[in-house]
Amino acid sequence: MMGNEFMLDIARIRADFPILNQSVNGKPLVFLDSAASSQKPLPVLQAMEEVYRYAYANVHRGVYRLSELATERYDQARAKIARFIGAPEPECIVFTRNATEALNLLAYAYARHFLKPGDELLITELEHHANFVPWQVLARERDIVLKFIPITAEGVLSLDALEALLTERTRLVSFAHVSNVLGTITDPAPIIQRAHQVGARVIVDASQSVPHMPVNVMEMDCDFLVFSGHKMLGPTGIGVLYGKRDLLEAMPPFLTGGDMISMVDFDGPQWNDVPLKFEAGTPAFVEAIGLGAAVDYLSALGMPAVRQHEQAMTAYALERLSEVNGVRIIGPTDSRIRGGVVTFTLDRVHPHDLATLLDAEGVAIRAGHHCAQPLHIRLGLNATARASFYIYNEPADVDALVEALYKAKLALRR
Ligand SMILES: Cc1ncc(COP(=O)(O)O)c(C=O)c1O
Repeated sequence: MMGNEFMLDIARIRADFPILNQSVNGKPLVFLDSAASSQKPLPVLQAMEEVYRYAYANVHRGVYRLSELATERYDQARAKIARFIGAPEPECIVFTRNATEALNLLAYAYARHFLKPGDELLITELEHHANFVPWQVLARERDIVLKFIPITAEGVLSLDALEALLTERTRLVSFAHVSNVLGTITDPAPIIQRAHQVGARVIVDASQSVPHMPVNVMEMDCDFLVFSGHKMLGPTGIGVLYGKRDLLEAMPPFLTGGDMISMVDFDGPQWNDVPLKFEAGTPAFVEAIGLGAAVDYLSALGMPAVRQHEQAMTAYALERLSEVNGVRIIGPTDSRIRGGVVTFTLDRVHPHDLATLLDAEGVAIRAGHHCAQPLHIRLGLNATARASFYIYNEPADVDALVEALYKAKLALRR
């Protein structure tokens, strides 16, 4: 991948996102908060509407045609998602509500089962609360030693520090592929290799990578990987846990009830095969089909082109924002190791005030701790402002952000 060219046909893409074509506070909407949740293109909305109109019935239950149709489409969605992340077979894909639920599933069904008191679990300083709190709860409850891989001053994970933290008691390592605050892209290979050498299993939180760049779980050789559908053009209420099949098979279920059993009598239940063992109750199958359509949409654009577009957007945003006096960029300034997330502060202005002033100009950014309070403590900041990009953003959006920033400065006399 070369240079910072914009590879995507943005005008054509934007035509698929009617929500973007509106005014907010009398100004054209500039949506810069896709890292929190992305907008949805027409093919995703249509795929879900089509199921509700013509192919809706509960999956896995009916022997009648409509139920078979819904089940077929649900299974097809699973297969599409498996292909999208290079999983060896659809059975390695467990549908969850979101990445948070997938991580909780792992904390309960993997870690609570396989880790013993005194075992060590490594996460990093830059994790989202979803990859932080479940492990803190587990560590407290089970006397597991929780350690944090530190970041460097530039906001990159320190591999030397990883070396120092790994021991023969390390059982699990869990880290974000891309940070939702710093944007840092972590090369998973060296971490996974070293963790495997000491016999630890590895979870990759791919919530900010699967939507934005090519990800291949076989090449990575991670043991588990999680992400959410709503950040990648899909609907809310659907997330994914990828796991190596032998590990999923060895794990007990997380939630229990209908669908996840093969047989129940008065003596007790027998578990269904994976992945259904982890999908208790009526699943969010319409949402899964919507996510399948999102994967089709992204695949048609090509994930290398998506990444290249976002890298170009990020490079442009880093350049333009650094022109503004008082703006401090948080995280790596090299767009090659940064996802489409640009977090910053404006001198003597609270990020919430800034986001409110930008909203008056139609510019939607996120302000706060972005569900990464420990990282903000580590950075010595209470809150930051964050602009994040996706396939429908264009350089003019960055120009609008910068212009709105100048207006905010003027209004606040900063
Ligand atoms: C890196 C990372 N991990 C996990 C999550 C949690 O995602 P969800 O709220 O969809 O479960 C997010 C959401 O912002 C995230 O950015």
